[in-house]
Amino acid sequence: MAMISTYCPHFTGLRRSSPNLHHNNSQQSQSFLQHIDSQLRLPSSSSGRPCRGAVTAMAGSGKFFVGGNWKCNGTKDSIMKLVSDLNSAKLETDVDVVVAPPFVYLDKVKASLTDRIEVSAQNSWIGKGGAFTGEISVEQLKDIGCKWVILGHSERRHIIGEDDQFIGKKAAYALNEGLGVIACIGELLEEREAGKTFDVCFQQLKAFSDVVPSWENIVIAYEPVWAIGTGKVATPQQAQEVHVAVRDWLKKNVSEEVASKTRIIYGGSVNGSNCAELAKKEDIDGFLVGGASLKGPEFATIVNSVTSKKVAA
Ligand code: PGA
Repeated sequence: MAMISTYCPHFTGLRRSSPNLHHNNSQQSQSFLQHIDSQLRLPSSSSGRPCRGAVTAMAGSGKFFVGGNWKCNGTKDSIMKLVSDLNSAKLETDVDVVVAPPFVYLDKVKASLTDRIEVSAQNSWIGKGGAFTGEISVEQLKDIGCKWVILGHSERRHIIGEDDQFIGKKAAYALNEGLGVIACIGELLEEREAGKTFDVCFQQLKAFSDVVPSWENIVIAYEPVWAIGTGKVATPQQAQEVHVAVRDWLKKNVSEEVASKTRIIYGGSVNGSNCAELAKKEDIDGFLVGGASLKGPEFATIVNSVTSKKVAA
């Protein structure tokens, strides 16, 4: 996807040479963060990537992706109003758009929503359905036309208590059965403050990587826990530095092709006002949106922030 920018990026994502990352050493991770920070401040002439004038790079090759995570919100009435607003919204064509309603409304939303927007579940069971009270199977999700599932969300990790292994099992099963997975990773505030952001994200990534059959149907959502539902959005630079580190991790631990193709989206207090600046960052391939996805017009604005990647010269 050719992307246009008004500046010459000196931060070259996949194409820059990156320092060797040591995944389980938080001091080194911290110094990598500082290294990236200093890279961001360097003049563009120091870049390995030639200046392309008015080109905003998109480091990955995947299509922009925006997901709306409705969480445990809504009633029959409010959800049908949201569906109607989404059906009448004007959405840029070059964006994959997905919404994740609460389970009880999933079938109805799928049936009433324009085909332009796919639906996602917010969770799925680790294996085939059966005697698992309260769970929803991948087979049932597929039966109603659901194409995606969000797994590893911080609310399930930190409130419900799901661990990496359990989440990995869910991801492997869903992918093997043909569902796409929005795989969430992200650090707590105290982990960021302790310089462990990369360690935490890499460990969560590894748990997915160890078990998934392929990366073809995975979108990674980087969602710093301190930014979710708090109104405290990561700065574009903070998000970019983790996204590029995630892409580097994929390059080193999976393959260059997967690193380039896998969408890495940002989540955590994204709204109609801050999405454009975030979208300009070259390793931000879209968003996972909570609160602001409950308002149709605002969600459409976020979907359409893809245009800020294509700012003309
Ligand atoms: P938020 O939620 O946009 O309300 O911060 C994001 C998420 O949890 O995916």
